[in-house]
Amino acid sequence: MLLNQNILELKPSATLLINEKVKELRKEQREIIHFGFGQSPFPIHQSIVEELKNNSTNNHYLPVKGLESLREQVSKFLLKNQGIERDPDQLFIGPGSKELLYQSILIFEGEFLIPKGSWVSYIPQIKSKGGSYTILETKLENHFKLTPQVLEDYLKQTNQQEHILILNSPNNPTGAVYSENEYKSLAKVCKKHEVIVLSDEIYSQIHFNDDFSPSISKYYPEGTIVFGGLSKVFSAGGYRLGFMSLPNELASLSVAYCSLFSETFSCVSSPVQFAAIKAYEYSQELQEYVKISSKILCGVSSFIFQELSKNKIQCTKAQGAFYMMIGFDRFKTAINSLNIKTSTELAHYLLENYDVALLPGTDFGFQDSELFFRLAFVDFDGEKLMNKIKKETIIDKAFIKENCPRVFSGVKQLIKFAQELF
Ligand SMILES: Cc1ncc(COP(=O)(O)O)c(C=O)c1O
Repeated sequence: MLLNQNILELKPSATLLINEKVKELRKEQREIIHFGFGQSPFPIHQSIVEELKNNSTNNHYLPVKGLESLREQVSKFLLKNQGIERDPDQLFIGPGSKELLYQSILIFEGEFLIPKGSWVSYIPQIKSKGGSYTILETKLENHFKLTPQVLEDYLKQTNQQEHILILNSPNNPTGAVYSENEYKSLAKVCKKHEVIVLSDEIYSQIHFNDDFSPSISKYYPEGTIVFGGLSKVFSAGGYRLGFMSLPNELASLSVAYCSLFSETFSCVSSPVQFAAIKAYEYSQELQEYVKISSKILCGVSSFIFQELSKNKIQCTKAQGAFYMMIGFDRFKTAINSLNIKTSTELAHYLLENYDVALLPGTDFGFQDSELFFRLAFVDFDGEKLMNKIKKETIIDKAFIKENCPRVFSGVKQLIKFAQELF
């Protein structure tokens, strides 16, 4: 049998292995706190569900680029709720932003640049096509955000001609959000070196201080492709609908995209496309729903940040999304003396001995020797919380203890582990 080596060489990710282990332990009736699983904890809004039901008899293939009325609606949404001006003609609907990112990775030739602290799927997607990539260094002090200096220094010395930078903000796994100024200076470097930017903005409206996160496309529209979708903001991951938008300057790529789409997925399920129109109309009620979910996520992440920081566990301060990176580098000597040298080993140790599942940094571009982990702070009943929370509700320690008991005990366990190292 002749098989594609690029695919065969994809290793099962550390994430997958930890998830398997959690399943096994739960079968043994162990109470595991799953800080590894990053799905939205909130229910989908009823207005979107109703629209899906209303269109359930629609059995037609739709245009490869997606329904025109949906593309128009997404274009309006982007302008009003993300500050991005994009022509509906250059908008494409696909079965999740993951697929659209993958097809983009297939289309672009060159070297992919991935900041350390990036989403788990970018590198395997690049590897699957035998593509080349470089991980760019980032630092905890800067919440693992890429700096213009690191980008410029790298681009100055490389022999490669073409570069594609993948940026993601609000970020999975760090929760970090690039500011307008940070994007302005990164955009300058990208423009100078004609780097194509794939801007993954799937969490844009899950922002803890604002209605949406800044987009690098504001400062470098001509070279930026923006990605988004229903999965996070509207808690509809299983609906599998995402979008991408090309700037007019890259409109010539539209033919390549359409050909690839039509030869692979054809179009996204018709009822889901109609339901998505409702989501992107973004009624007042839906805006409230997103605000409340962001308020809850902000409260939960602030609690974790405060408690862990007080106990010397390193932490990124999430400003959006569902995640933060936490680190045990300060405890390295004590941890090494337990004969644990890598984040993968430590993740297994924490799961076995403290019933807490974290994902090791290796799947996010970190060295295995760096003792960093992704913590997803969504192990709570989102529906119950949404019904309970009012504008004036203060999400403090007592509130978390009562309403997010698993998060509360997970944090307690991590602190116990840190304290026992001394
Ligand atoms: C950063 C990031 N980008 C893209 C995706 C893919 O989302 P979708 O459900 O639209 O494929 C995810 C999902 O976890 C994500 O975290």
